[in-house]
Amino acid sequence: MDAGDVLDQLFPAHLARLAATAGRALQAAGAPALVIGSGFPKLRFLDDQPDPFIASPHFKAWVPVTDAPGSFVVFVPGERPLLLFHQPKDYWHKPPALPDGAWLGAFELRVIRSPAEARGHVPPRSVYVGEPFAGLEEWGFGAINTPALLDVLHWARAVKDPYELACLRRAADAGARAHRAAATAFGDGASEYDIHLAYLAASGHTETGLPYPNIIALNEGAAILHYTTLQHEPPAVHRSLLIDAGAQFRGYASDITRTHAASAGPFAELVEGMDALQQELCAMVVPGAYYPDIHFAAHRLIATLLVDHGIVTCAADTAVETALTGVFFPHGVGHLLGLQVHDVGGHQRSEQGELQPPPAGHSYLRLTRRLEAGTVVTIEPGVYFIDLLLDQARDNGHARHIDWETVAELAPYGGVRIEDDVVATSDGPENLTRDSFTACA
Ligand code: GLY
Ligand code: MN
Ligand code: MN
Repeated sequence: MDAGDVLDQLFPAHLARLAATAGRALQAAGAPALVIGSGFPKLRFLDDQPDPFIASPHFKAWVPVTDAPGSFVVFVPGERPLLLFHQPKDYWHKPPALPDGAWLGAFELRVIRSPAEARGHVPPRSVYVGEPFAGLEEWGFGAINTPALLDVLHWARAVKDPYELACLRRAADAGARAHRAAATAFGDGASEYDIHLAYLAASGHTETGLPYPNIIALNEGAAILHYTTLQHEPPAVHRSLLIDAGAQFRGYASDITRTHAASAGPFAELVEGMDALQQELCAMVVPGAYYPDIHFAAHRLIATLLVDHGIVTCAADTAVETALTGVFFPHGVGHLLGLQVHDVGGHQRSEQGELQPPPAGHSYLRLTRRLEAGTVVTIEPGVYFIDLLLDQARDNGHARHIDWETVAELAPYGGVRIEDDVVATSDGPENLTRDSFTACA
């Protein structure tokens, strides 16, 4: 059976799950029906050019179509969902093609020629979920983006069903393939820009199809966490490449980071050490795990790595207790992944929407939930040599615990991060990223 058939077989159960969740969400909101908009292209300020269209994640969950702005799903519990597919009559642009996948059989399809035509299909008192648009107030919705309803939908999104996992595996495959092409370009001495082009070509994406802007940093650039500059000229010498880049399949994302050293030596050894500790952290992705525990384990393992590589001179425990590890690892160990690269709901405590804020001193940790079977997270520890943070450390009493000579030796490499996408399953962690790299070796 080919991959498309597998997706076709899995889609009905996915839709049934969406319907069940939406039914609960409607009950929580006291509303009879749900209308989900795909979104609209946005014109730039004083311009007739739109930004690239990004379909609403709520729409993509129901309908695996990412190029149909102005479309809607209307869901009434117990009824077949209605897809109002916006296909304008337009000779300036190519209208989106009518979908023809087997999944469409689960919907009642109506083609609309303008978004306004959808208004006649809105059940009274329904809830609208999507970007507000001009005139929305006149459509007769009972509520718009009601928090009580969104809380239920967002809570459920953390756990992926088999259809979603199949999509995520395909997104991981495309990302791994493209990472291999990027690594080859790095080995050939390419510029950041040319590594980016090699990545795009191998991923099958244009820029706008990426789940987030590629981070492709040579040498010192790797110390900038969200480095997206892309130098056109290769540097005089290639020391390191940190590439954080993903791909999408049917609206589901992969989020993958690899760090490459151009030659053997202390930085290559640091990358190896990071890879080993990252796999220890991935092994913690099991049902019942409390995600902040994985973040704290990352701090402990990174402390040992820093000591072992002579970067930090105090005991590993001291480095954790004094927050010295945060100088080198100043971000969270990861996040939920799915229809959005930083999937929603990471700080929820329940589907009622109570919050579980990040631990004190770790405000950037995007996920504070306990994992369940089917939760998909990234695991992305890193160590960076960031002047701003090193200067602060020097000023606030950490100076004597840092080996500045070793830091000076490693700083020209920027930093190291290794990031995989991992599913918690009752049989243990499923590492989507490593499986995909193996498959395309
Ligand atoms: N690529 C963004 C992140 O890793 O969270
Ligand atoms: Mn990530
Ligand atoms: Mn990433």
